Amino acid sequence: MHTFTTVAAMQAEARRLKAKGQRLALVPTMGALHDGHLALVQEAKKHADHVAVSIFVNPTQFGPNEDFNRYPRDLGGDMQRLETVGCDAVFAPTVEEMYPFGQQDEAVWVTVEGLDDHLDGPMRPGHFRGVTTVVAKLFHACQPDVAVFGQKDAQQLAILRRMTRALLFPVQIVGLATVRDADGLALSSRNRYLTADERAQAPVLHRALQRIEARVAEGERRTSALIEAGRSEIAAAPLARIQYVAVVDAATLAPVETLAPGQKALAALAVHFGTTRLIDNVSLSVPA
Ligand code: PAF
Repeated sequence: MHTFTTVAAMQAEARRLKAKGQRLALVPTMGALHDGHLALVQEAKKHADHVAVSIFVNPTQFGPNEDFNRYPRDLGGDMQRLETVGCDAVFAPTVEEMYPFGQQDEAVWVTVEGLDDHLDGPMRPGHFRGVTTVVAKLFHACQPDVAVFGQKDAQQLAILRRMTRALLFPVQIVGLATVRDADGLALSSRNRYLTADERAQAPVLHRALQRIEARVAEGERRTSALIEAGRSEIAAAPLARIQYVAVVDAATLAPVETLAPGQKALAALAVHFGTTRLIDNVSLSVPA
């Protein structure tokens, strides 16, 4: 497995692969890799000859009161995990390499308006602008033919799909279903912040989403009733503090009042356990 730390070296590697007619897949990550990331690598291998994983804790997508400084960093452990799934290359640049003019004074941003008006957007001002900016930079640095992202960050995935199409990046975006622990908790690098008691209660996120899915299957179409069903499930976990439970249209991410026949929607939620914020979502398909 090759490691590249500069944009120039990574671009040279991409050019070398393209000259040989080989396809390159990129799995962008912030490290602290878990089985969900390894599943993204396995998926990436189906779409390309070579897989590169970027490991970069991107400062511009963290708010001033968020966990940038304590975000788990374990490059050695990450490399070992990537070896086990046959990853070909790691791109692990420094902040200075990715933000040569300084991260906050850069004044060069990629923004996708509208899709960040809902869900996490208002809760994390500037977050998605940081994500789209760094992923655009990663696309320039790695020049992938395909990039793979997890459906757990459904809003991020929708925004990155829009950015990729709108800016004509020649990159195919692949979304992969959320990987969960046996008790339903979606795998996340932030799960390691949870205390034992919080971890024991955290599967309530998935149970709440399953309850919403079940109500839809029973014929409930009023999203106020669906949201209430999700909220009351979470209320059974005393350590959980709900930030939002929402049902939105899958394409626009705008809230929906009544699910229409044939509509594709998303039930999404954000819940705090102590200082840890967890998100999760499920797709809802309403029969035509
Ligand atoms: O999903 C993540 O880990 C990050 O938001 C990403 C896409 C790697 C950009 O920093």
